[in-house]
Amino acid sequence: MARILITSAIPYINGIKHLGNLVGSQLPADLYARYARARGHEVMFICATDEHGTPAELAAAKAGKPVAEYCAEMYEVQKALSDGFRLSFDHFGRSSSARNRALTQHFAARLAEAGLIEEVTESQVYSVADGRFLPDRYIEGTCPNCGYDKARGDQCENCTKQLDPTDLIEPRSAVSGSTDLEVRETRHLYLRQSAMRGKLAEWIDSKTDWPVLTTSIAKKWLNDGDGLQDRGITRDLDWGVPVQFDGAPWSGMEGKVFYVWFDAPIEYIAATAEWADANGLDEAAWRRWWRLDEGAEDVRYVQFMGKDNVPFHTLSFPATIMGSGEPWKLVDYIKSFNYLNYDGGQFSTSQGRGVFMDQALEILPADYWRWWLLSHAPENSDAEFTWENFQASVNKDLADVLGNFVSRVTKFCRSKFGEAVPEGGPDMPFDAATRDAFQGYMNNYQRHMAEMDIRKAARELRAMWALGNEWLQAAEPWALYKQDEDEAAARIRWSLNLIRFYAIVSAPFIPDTSDRVLEAMNCEDRTWPSGVETALTALPPGHAFTVPDNLFRKIADAEREDWQARFAGQRA
Ligand code: 2FM
Ligand code: ZN
Repeated sequence: MARILITSAIPYINGIKHLGNLVGSQLPADLYARYARARGHEVMFICATDEHGTPAELAAAKAGKPVAEYCAEMYEVQKALSDGFRLSFDHFGRSSSARNRALTQHFAARLAEAGLIEEVTESQVYSVADGRFLPDRYIEGTCPNCGYDKARGDQCENCTKQLDPTDLIEPRSAVSGSTDLEVRETRHLYLRQSAMRGKLAEWIDSKTDWPVLTTSIAKKWLNDGDGLQDRGITRDLDWGVPVQFDGAPWSGMEGKVFYVWFDAPIEYIAATAEWADANGLDEAAWRRWWRLDEGAEDVRYVQFMGKDNVPFHTLSFPATIMGSGEPWKLVDYIKSFNYLNYDGGQFSTSQGRGVFMDQALEILPADYWRWWLLSHAPENSDAEFTWENFQASVNKDLADVLGNFVSRVTKFCRSKFGEAVPEGGPDMPFDAATRDAFQGYMNNYQRHMAEMDIRKAARELRAMWALGNEWLQAAEPWALYKQDEDEAAARIRWSLNLIRFYAIVSAPFIPDTSDRVLEAMNCEDRTWPSGVETALTALPPGHAFTVPDNLFRKIADAEREDWQARFAGQRA
């Protein structure tokens, strides 16, 4: 038994996440957490909302609410949706927590002591009407290159040219539209990441087992151009962690906050402390997951995230941890994901394109989505959600294969033998070839799950469902019943056990269905099967069960077309 710390990238607070966000970190992290728990490991699974920064401020302003109030409300919305998708976090925290404030200021103090923080004077655009400095992307104007009139201060979306705010023709504030802008000097603190370049490079080089997607991005940022840049970790904003060092001010930094990407990953640690607080536990309870000198030496720490988050997790956050000079746990393995596209284009939060978490659950239960998303996870390349594919996958894998098996077996048993596992016949109705094939799929399934090869794991699980179905088709207990009731009973007993087996091993993918089936099978023991053959004798003759309602319904063509049309445009 191992101790496994699992974190998912923490979603921004401003708005409900789409399915592409979900499959890019939280959902696969949940799959792994559920699997690790099922295999008897001690798991700490952490996520939170990422609440600071300009996007949160602007979303609150748009909603006409104070930012703290907006975040508190959106936190509840996101929390309810993660519960709806059955994301089994041990704690879903908030980066605006007192714990994160204290820890962020703690790390800043250690970095300052280590001489890794320096002051830099910058020129930045100030909006007189808004009474604030504007980040580059909140300045809009006409692109000097193509004439597009909604180019942003960092880039023109139309011609992709990288811009400086001062390049824009007729610049205006994206916050208020005001053109009363001036360039003012402001002082910021920079983290001297470049001083840690050698240490970071050595650390990344030692991670030979990481996925190529993760290391290639890390190395690109480490080696490209000027190499690892120092980065500003403070901002002229009201909302965020105040720039203080263990509570002590830094002259000239009054009224400023830490950059959202500085405090967000620290929230992984803070949320674990929030977990302890929420459960009335002491400091040692969370520190044993994070402090090498307090028990975390034997923890394996795995992070899940989309590819755009990789630089922050392979370079910036490790720089914070290493630079602190304190024995905090560094990540052991980073599982990163490509993008999920939507029906010939991209999912887009700003344009409301695609299916969002709340909408998905309005249409169908979580397991339908979990199965499709996980079995099509964008691991080795970008993947695409299409309604046709979703329909085909649900109707075939879930309804025709798994659902049908459960329904046929339980109903047939009820009609011929009653609602209890029948006696009779041999203990091992599988022929040797079927048994070996089954055990082979199971072995592969376990290996892929342990290695977080999600699509491959789904493929092996599906193969187990399909093999059971094929076997049943050939075993024909309904035909056999007339000639050899005893043998038919044995095959049904075996099939009922197979149902229980499926429920246990499929639980990480489709937890609600698994619960329903195990309840119908009147089975509380969820112990992970040590082998296929022994697992298939777990329910003894006479064991009572009930026939569950249909596990999955099929998606009709008309319905699919309806959804396709409904989600083609912008979200209202
Ligand atoms: O990309 C995002 O959605 C960020 N909110 C992820 C932050 S992950 C971490 F660093 F906390
Ligand atoms: Zn342009």
